[in-house]
Amino acid sequence: METKLAMAGDEIIEEAAGLLKSGGIAAVPTETVYGLAANAYDVNAVRSVFRAKGRPQDNPLILHISSIEMLYDIAESVNPLALTLAEAFWPGPLTMIFPRKAHVPAETCGGLDTAAVRMPRNRFTLALIERCGFPLAAPSANTSGLPSPTSAKHVYEDMNGKIPLIIDGGECRYGVESTVVCFEGEDAVRILRPGAVTPEMLREYCHVVIDSGVLEKLGADAKVISPGMKYKHYSPNAEVYIVKGTDSDISAFLKSVSVNKIGFLGFGSEILPDSVTVFPYGKNAEEQAENLFSSLREADAAGCTEVYVRMPDTAGIGLAVYNRLLRSAGFRVIDTCRQGEDARALP
Ligand code: TXA
Ligand code: MG
Repeated sequence: METKLAMAGDEIIEEAAGLLKSGGIAAVPTETVYGLAANAYDVNAVRSVFRAKGRPQDNPLILHISSIEMLYDIAESVNPLALTLAEAFWPGPLTMIFPRKAHVPAETCGGLDTAAVRMPRNRFTLALIERCGFPLAAPSANTSGLPSPTSAKHVYEDMNGKIPLIIDGGECRYGVESTVVCFEGEDAVRILRPGAVTPEMLREYCHVVIDSGVLEKLGADAKVISPGMKYKHYSPNAEVYIVKGTDSDISAFLKSVSVNKIGFLGFGSEILPDSVTVFPYGKNAEEQAENLFSSLREADAAGCTEVYVRMPDTAGIGLAVYNRLLRSAGFRVIDTCRQGEDARALP
């Protein structure tokens, strides 16, 4: 299949709407990461998305809407807190989980009786949803397991030959996927996946519980509310390790690593041996969120076999950075200041 890569604009939105209405799929820009979109109500179109990504069937998709009316078409009931949060954060990087109506296909929702819904903040994608008149089911537009795409180029790397259209809307503003929450009564949410709508921001409106799966490894038979949390994720081909410690401990540790091509994502303050190839990361959580996935992809392209990423500060959007990084590293955290011990002894 020929894959067309086109800059976002009115004409291409029109063309994409035609494609989606006839059961096709297309990659679209959002403020978080690129999505691979299909008519959420068309089972065959949704199946094409699962196929193109190589995604497990039980991992549900997020339904993207352009109006509150669309939410009422999907959700069996909408609690008042959801409306308050929608008012505060939509369009934006917040996904909320609702009981779904019977006409929403089970396939779209990974067989669950709930549906995850968000209104993305990208004018082209919002216009596209409006033009279609149905919600777009859209997972991140990467091959399942790889880092999520934050540019059209990343989507092209993974999807060339597999999908007909990629709409290029430039680099994604946040660089990590939306915050996913479910409701616990009418005055609390549980964060299943952290994102740019931070716990601190949500606490302005309600109680916030952070699910244990956000930072802890789930057992093989653990019952998960959000199936996406159980899969290995966001991983380049290189082995990823999180490194913890001071500038000098990290420098000393990297000197001791004896593999051919070492990649490193740090804060910019570390003094590094020549053997290390440095990729953009950043000195604060916002920059780190923006750069994490693209740098992991760059490290692969540069042929790094091991990539060390400095442990981020977990406040604000940093919680999302750390959550993605833990999965990318298979929960391997190296404490570089454990003198005299094998720092690579893993938990
Ligand atoms: O920012 C984003 O959310 C991006 C852009 C494209 O909007 N999309 C995205 O989709 O990250 P995806 O499929 O890569 O991740 C969706 C996450 C998964 O962890 C999935 O398990 C969870 O949301 N999810 C979807 N529907 C759910 C449901 N009904 N109940 C619980 N979790 C759900
Ligand atoms: Mg994804």
